[in-house]
Amino acid sequence: MCGIVGFVGRQEAAPILLDGLSRLEYRGYDSAGVAVVSPRREIQIKKSKGRLQVLSDLIHGGKDMEGTIGIGHTRWATHGAPNDVNAHPHMSEGGKFAVIHNGIIENYVEIKEFLIKQGVHFKSETDSEVVAQLLEFYYNECHDFFEAVGRVLRRIEGAYALGMLCADCPDRIIAARKDAPLLLGYGDGENFIASDVTAIIKHTREVAYMEDGEVAILTTDGIEVFDALQQPVKKERHHIDWEVSAAEKGGYPHFMLKEIFEQPEALRRAISPRLKGGKVVFDDMKLTVEQIKAFQRIFIVACGSSYHVGMLGKYTLEHLTRRSVEVALASEFRYCDPIVDMNTLVIVISQSGETLDTMAALREAKARGAYILSIVNVVGSSIARESDDVIYTWAGPEIAVATTKAYSTQLAVLDMVALAFGEALGAVDAKEYEEAVTELEKLPGKMETVLEHCEDIQMFAAQHFNHNSIFFIGRNLDYALGLEGSLKLKEISYIHSEAYASGELKHGTISLIEEGTLVVALGTYGALFDKAMSNVVEVKARGADVLALTTESHRDEMAKTVSTVLTIPDTAPMLLPSLGVVPLQLFAYYVALQRGCDIDKPRNLAKSVTVE
Ligand code: AGP
Ligand code: GLU
Repeated sequence: MCGIVGFVGRQEAAPILLDGLSRLEYRGYDSAGVAVVSPRREIQIKKSKGRLQVLSDLIHGGKDMEGTIGIGHTRWATHGAPNDVNAHPHMSEGGKFAVIHNGIIENYVEIKEFLIKQGVHFKSETDSEVVAQLLEFYYNECHDFFEAVGRVLRRIEGAYALGMLCADCPDRIIAARKDAPLLLGYGDGENFIASDVTAIIKHTREVAYMEDGEVAILTTDGIEVFDALQQPVKKERHHIDWEVSAAEKGGYPHFMLKEIFEQPEALRRAISPRLKGGKVVFDDMKLTVEQIKAFQRIFIVACGSSYHVGMLGKYTLEHLTRRSVEVALASEFRYCDPIVDMNTLVIVISQSGETLDTMAALREAKARGAYILSIVNVVGSSIARESDDVIYTWAGPEIAVATTKAYSTQLAVLDMVALAFGEALGAVDAKEYEEAVTELEKLPGKMETVLEHCEDIQMFAAQHFNHNSIFFIGRNLDYALGLEGSLKLKEISYIHSEAYASGELKHGTISLIEEGTLVVALGTYGALFDKAMSNVVEVKARGADVLALTTESHRDEMAKTVSTVLTIPDTAPMLLPSLGVVPLQLFAYYVALQRGCDIDKPRNLAKSVTVE
């Protein structure tokens, strides 16, 4: 997730690039940079850590950089801390090329090692720099910009939206995309590339969306597009009629809805680089099998939705590793004199990596000798920096206060950790492991299927947005899933809600169920479906309205008792919550929408809680 913009035309490029980047900062704000080809055919690069304003001040709003062709980038770091050197654009060692990149080059380590053996010297820690260095390596062989790009694209693996400049070809930008968004903007004697419409809508509303494998050559005369076989492609143009303000949300009314729909793409970024040859492989985890075997206690520590991920992780880790796992609220853990020592693993989960309660719990555990493995979205954040091991979720910047895609990617990462640990300990059933990996690969696609039915949820929310209290009930994974569904609803609609282990309801709380009480009954976990059904009957007998969530294979059975049944595709049991959370996110969203709440910035809340 980052912001990309490129311009070729007759105006000075730098101010246009800065303006475009200012409209993309919500996509990433770790650092920013621009590259402009000067009339003397030199590539000028200016880049800096921090917000775009730092860069703009550095180059006096672009006045310091002369040239009418350039590229710009705001970074959301995945590989390499947010700093000046790791900022994009990256320049090849010989100064011939400048490259900006959105995505992850999954095989960058081997390419970097190869180039170093060829005598290339790298400056940054990023994966992206290999594109610039490899481009120059091939260009020195073929002396053709377009051909060199083709060779690079055939060599790199992973996700990329690329903007590239060549000092020897000062009249053109070459762009390429695979599994990361990139569009083309058509102007009058000027043309653009951008991550999304926001960056260029003030210059043109005529755009075309690049497809995976395509390469585009932009000059002042026009844009040529070629497919992966280097055959010319005629692109369909679209006229954008959004208002500029709407465009920042990619056409969605709220960042939260945009981020709910971004989840399949975010899951692909979190999962695909870590599935290799049918195995879960964490290149970025230092923990050894011996260390994993040596741990005598495992804690998961977090707050809020990250804690709910931990609640789900407890079931999955214990099932796959047969080791006891304790989940603790960070704000409680730090003051409970926890039984932690050097044989303890503490898994810390945090989207922001700055939550003070979680940070303090991490320090408490570390002071007692624990090994800290953190699962974090923001690269280089405090929690990431103070952990012994950090696995990034690569969800991209999450703007809405109520987390969605960060939660989903945390959950997928923790599921993969559970599989990796189970395999390392020789505790996981081979068939179950294989099914889980197969289903992990399908998860983004299955989630897209769930998202296609969002209107059903919108309709139900329109009938149920005036309740004073809503209950979420479920067993096992469904109970932990209900915790998140309940929090989403409370956070943004301000309706009181409780998540309850449905087997526990009869021990008191069922006294609150009366005529018309809305109960969201979660029955996706097949092994306990019959038990879940009996709890549905219990609450219906007391007059509850029930919204049921189950799998497609249990739909008919559930429909015998409940009139409104939402379903998710069947998948490996441990992955059911990853799909089940989407209808709950949408339910909360549409209820809050009906109630006219401030969905992206709910009252009393902050995106990162850096106070006690
Ligand atoms: C989730 O929707 C909330 N915004 C909140 O509970 C959040 O999950 C919690 O504050 C933890 O934040 P973190 O993941 O950044 O540590
Ligand atoms: N993986 C690249 C980096 O960490 C690009 C990240 C992005 O998409 O901003 O620099």
